[in-house]
Amino acid sequence: MSAAAKPSSAVQVAELRRMREAGEKIAALTCYDASFALLEDRAGVDVVLVGDSLGMVIQGRNTTTAVTVADIAYHSRLVAPFLQRAFLVADLPFLSFATRERALDASQRVMQEGGAKMVKLEGGREQADIVEYLAVRGVPVCAHLGLQPQLIHKMGAFKVQGREDAAAEAMLRDAKILEEAGADLMVLECIPSSLGKRITEQAHIPVIGIGAGPDVSGQILVLQDILNISPTVTLGHKPRFVKNFMEGAPDIEGAIRAYVQAVKSAAYPAPEHCFGDAVAVPKALPGGKSRKAAGSLPKTSPAHAHRSPRR
Ligand code: KIV
Repeated sequence: MSAAAKPSSAVQVAELRRMREAGEKIAALTCYDASFALLEDRAGVDVVLVGDSLGMVIQGRNTTTAVTVADIAYHSRLVAPFLQRAFLVADLPFLSFATRERALDASQRVMQEGGAKMVKLEGGREQADIVEYLAVRGVPVCAHLGLQPQLIHKMGAFKVQGREDAAAEAMLRDAKILEEAGADLMVLECIPSSLGKRITEQAHIPVIGIGAGPDVSGQILVLQDILNISPTVTLGHKPRFVKNFMEGAPDIEGAIRAYVQAVKSAAYPAPEHCFGDAVAVPKALPGGKSRKAAGSLPKTSPAHAHRSPRR
């Protein structure tokens, strides 16, 4: 059999769906360059994301909003040639999908120049038209619900999303609408575990969580977070869902392998990496402790989410 005729073992959308159906957890991780792409692929990462988090972990900015399509295409180009098996997804950055035409141009660049196989875009039902426009033209789309870091200047802070009943119901509806519009994959960021579970149960496509609890089809984290070297972590703002996989690992490849293994075996996320539902907090806490100091209370405040202060 010639090389060209060999069946590809590379992960495709259909394989991600199969994994979801079979209950095999999908391990996803961000990546921005060749060296790490090779390591992630060898370590068995299923989905590699060139995320706009590169604005924070690579460019050192406070938010992701300055990241351009050219940035994403450039980093995708560095990553793509080193992935033999993993499925490459590229983010559409802030405002690059504000109109159908812009979304199509941006997708064309990150797929044709960058080598991505899918684009990811933040937003709920208001993006359904764009998702459908891309999907019917052959662009696989990953939707992104929950915390949307591109909205930081509207929100003012990174907070856990979907804790109130109305917000949770709205997110469930958004997820359904985006799937019906043609999304093939979905990321849920910083939401209560119970909502992550409900959205995953309702969906027919794989759902990847970051701070969305254990009952989703897979997990994604930022590479620099699992290696304990992101500015957020270094500056002391470790998000709740981040785990340092360098701890106990012999080297970087070992840490990435440990992450993949922990996702596959469902050892990650543990309860301490997850967000609970909002609960009524007593006005005065025993012992005069402030709410902030009460470590056992579910967090109702900013997630210190993965893009908190310097990220
Ligand atoms: O930009 C990013 O890295 C992301 C994920 C971590 C989901 O959107």
